[in-house]
Amino acid sequence: MRNVSPDTITQAFADYAAKAEDARTKEVLCSLAKHLHAFVKETQLTHAEWMAGLMALTRAGEITTPERNEFILFSDLFGVSALVDMVNTPKGATNCSNLGPFHQRGAPELADGGDLWKDQPGEPMVVTGRVLDAETGEGIAGATLDLWQNADNGLYAVQDAAQPAKNYHALLRCAPDGTFAFSTTRPKSYNVPYDGPAGDMLRALGRDAWRPAHLHVIAEAAGYRPLVTELFPEGDPYLDSDAVFGVREDLVVPLGTLANGETPTHLAARDRLPERVLHAPLLIRMARA
Ligand code: BEZ
Ligand code: FE
Repeated sequence: MRNVSPDTITQAFADYAAKAEDARTKEVLCSLAKHLHAFVKETQLTHAEWMAGLMALTRAGEITTPERNEFILFSDLFGVSALVDMVNTPKGATNCSNLGPFHQRGAPELADGGDLWKDQPGEPMVVTGRVLDAETGEGIAGATLDLWQNADNGLYAVQDAAQPAKNYHALLRCAPDGTFAFSTTRPKSYNVPYDGPAGDMLRALGRDAWRPAHLHVIAEAAGYRPLVTELFPEGDPYLDSDAVFGVREDLVVPLGTLANGETPTHLAARDRLPERVLHAPLLIRMARA
């Protein structure tokens, strides 16, 4: 097309894609172009502003490594990761939430009732729960939970050479009725990395980098959609201002206490726990595949 104008450029983009092989790819990319065009027109974007954005992406590429992906961080901080999670959560199932960059594959297996705390500093916490079928409410047999959280210094094992590899990471096989229990410490609120261009965006917007404390979970069971989510113990000061928009009502877990004698009898750490211990009860609802 010649004589392209602000009014015709979006249609021109769609026309150029007439020979696209995959209809969904065409739909997604044409929609993205439409919204980018609208953004430029709405803001009357200047050359300097667009170049500043492109330079931020260039720097994101320069500092991205397998351990740190600045593009994913931008997606998280813009709320796009959270929106993708929300539009893909099946009805009735526990909400999906951020995977984040600190997951490690191949976590050590933890028996139901096992211990992640291992007498490390922090507030010991007992987690009990059940993995349920979102439709029937019945326990799911054979569910596994890939669990990870930070230590009491706010750091995940991959961020902290002082922690043993895969500290506070576990692959827990639930009991046949879907129930599970383990001991850990209360996770801590922490800052997402803010020393790169995504951090510059936070500063430009007067935002901070805090995430409320959470326990990451990937729940899997044969015949069910894998669920990547996070559970947030109640009472954290950042629950209403999570930098990556990960908090949903059903992901906030009441945080009570139990007398040690009330904790599940198969808890490996039971003898070492304090007389009263923090208790987080979780319910994880999974949708059929
Ligand atoms: C996390 O929860 O581990 C996380 C999520 C998004 C950005 C950084 C960290
Ligand atoms: Fe996290």
